[in-house]
Amino acid sequence: MSRTVYLNGQYLPEEEAMVSIFDRGFVMGDAVYEVTCVLDGKLTEFEGHMARLERSLRELEMTCDISREEWLAIHRKLIELNGLTDGGVYLQVTRGNAGDRDFHFPPAGTPATVVLYTQSKPGLANDPHALTGIKVISVPDLRWHRRDIKTVQLLWASMAKMMAEKAGKDDAWFVEDGFVTEGSSNNCYIVKGNKIITRNLSNDILHGITRGSVLKMAREAQLEIEERPFTIEEAQAADEAFYTSASAFVMPIVEVDGVSLGDGTPGRVSKRLREIYIEESRKVAI
Ligand code: PDD
Repeated sequence: MSRTVYLNGQYLPEEEAMVSIFDRGFVMGDAVYEVTCVLDGKLTEFEGHMARLERSLRELEMTCDISREEWLAIHRKLIELNGLTDGGVYLQVTRGNAGDRDFHFPPAGTPATVVLYTQSKPGLANDPHALTGIKVISVPDLRWHRRDIKTVQLLWASMAKMMAEKAGKDDAWFVEDGFVTEGSSNNCYIVKGNKIITRNLSNDILHGITRGSVLKMAREAQLEIEERPFTIEEAQAADEAFYTSASAFVMPIVEVDGVSLGDGTPGRVSKRLREIYIEESRKVAI
């Protein structure tokens, strides 16, 4: 069945939603995005995603005059129109239609292109991968150096996922200067005893909304947090590992570059944090 999507103020059947061939998002990858998770028809972490969207727009000097209340209304209307229970809402803002290909930004006042659509993932919180844990390979981090901005420039992330798939694994961790930066579409963590180690925030990684909440919950659960870079060797010697993202919550990792972690099954801390995070997210979803 065709979805109803949002494009520049209109709700349209997906086949009718058209964007110009001159759109900066299409020609230059000049666009930012957010993915907000939906559980039981409600949005999780909405405020966090909107705050990061505003920051991404600001960092790229992009303007979009949609207020938080309006964003919320659009998200809710799409969920309702599409009868979405579990999944997510994808949002993208581009620098608009420049009228021709040009490296310079289009003139001030050129309207942004705004697209939102729902993606249905029934049973999202019961992903069977969380029971077995997933396996990752490492690949060099060849992305640009403003990974803190959530741009649609996802080609290397996409290639990294394909490399993992070809290797018979589930995902890839990026490594730069000998240290893990983040996963192809998630933030990553290792666990040693009661201590969680995860890379500190900087321009080197995306400031995950799930990361922020999971670290807060981990502190409340009396776990120790160390925010610093770690190596693949350190991860291979860890008790457990996991990643976080809006669409996967807390996902246990059981193998890094062919080496099993702990007993090769999802670790105690990862499993507990996943439970706490999903439970809390459902409670505060709007
Ligand atoms: N990806 N790091 C990268 C490179 C990401 O693409 C993502 C999210 C994260 C986790 O951020 P958050 O917890 O705010 O989802 C970290 C989304 C889910 C995606 O591209 O589909």
